[in-house]
Amino acid sequence: MTAPRIFTFPNPPVLLAPMAGITDRPFRDLVRQFGAGLVVSEMVASQEMVQAKPGVRERAEIGADVENTAVQLAGRDAEWMAEAARQVADRGAAVIDINMGCPAKKVTNGYSGSALLKTPDHALRLIEAVVAAVEVPVTLKTRLGWDENLMNAPDVARRAEAAGVRMITIHGRTRCQFYKGQADWAAIGAVKEAVDVPVVANGDIVDAGTAARALEQSGADGVMIGRGAQGQPWLLAQIAHALWGHTAPEIPQGRALVDMVCGHYEAMLGFYGADLGLRVARKHLGWYMDQAGTGAALRRAVLTGRDPEAVLRLLADALDPQQQEAA
Ligand SMILES: Cc1cc2nc3c(=O)[nH]c(=O)nc-3n(C[C@H](O)[C@H](O)[C@H](O)COP(=O)(O)O)c2cc1C
Repeated sequence: MTAPRIFTFPNPPVLLAPMAGITDRPFRDLVRQFGAGLVVSEMVASQEMVQAKPGVRERAEIGADVENTAVQLAGRDAEWMAEAARQVADRGAAVIDINMGCPAKKVTNGYSGSALLKTPDHALRLIEAVVAAVEVPVTLKTRLGWDENLMNAPDVARRAEAAGVRMITIHGRTRCQFYKGQADWAAIGAVKEAVDVPVVANGDIVDAGTAARALEQSGADGVMIGRGAQGQPWLLAQIAHALWGHTAPEIPQGRALVDMVCGHYEAMLGFYGADLGLRVARKHLGWYMDQAGTGAALRRAVLTGRDPEAVLRLLADALDPQQQEAA
């Protein structure tokens, strides 16, 4: 096995969080176009991917010539994880991220996701197997711990670093908190102190102000944004501009916003096919309309529409205030 490739910490250090059902290829493409240091795929179940279960491999699809994409793998079995890592690395993943944070019962009952925090020795075997399997850098995303009695992220992070992990992202909650309360950015500081590899702070970062506070309180090297980017794929670039002086994104308004959303809609239909595409698209269209303050009747018409041409026409009215006033 050759030595793992050098890991270049994302620049800007603003990362798109993996979100199942959301950070698919069309959405990642959009976020990357505005500007982001790294975008992370939805969690890909390693065994199901290797066994070519329908719909799983698409989640790991990256696209030609796309550089800054990490594919996130989930699983509890070192061999499936290693094989899945080999396959996604062969298909162009720049980074392999290991999911050790997902709190869903479906995942933790299978002893993967955040359940790995309860079995650190097993987690380490899994990490070692993935690191040994691929040349691309391997990163880890986890939470502060399982619950307030098992806040073992610093220890797990130290061991993961020793096993060859190149970056660690911490969602500032425990598994048992799920998404309740506020992310504890200061608690991420204990992980930062435990390791030399870059640490990324995650949880409840929704603008430049919260990003700055998360960095200050945690001492982390970068930020990862999830839900805040829903309906505003330019958010990461805005934060990169405000905190790191990267070029400010042009935030689309009026006709330009309609064009961007219609382009995203068509990309989703193209990627998934019309039936599934329509269903996946509704989440995103709902978030765009939340941002635009679309009225209830128009919103309903967009979200229940089954004819793509008609939905595209409705979107122009739904997202462009001038059109809405004129209506
Ligand atoms: C709908 C949804 C799906 C998610 N899927 C994943 C996933 O596949 N892998 C993962 O590591 N985290 C997943 N997460 C957690 C996010 O990556 C992130 O850690 C969490 O949402 C906190 O960040 P935020 O406050 O910026 O959203 C998911 C979160 C949401 C809301």
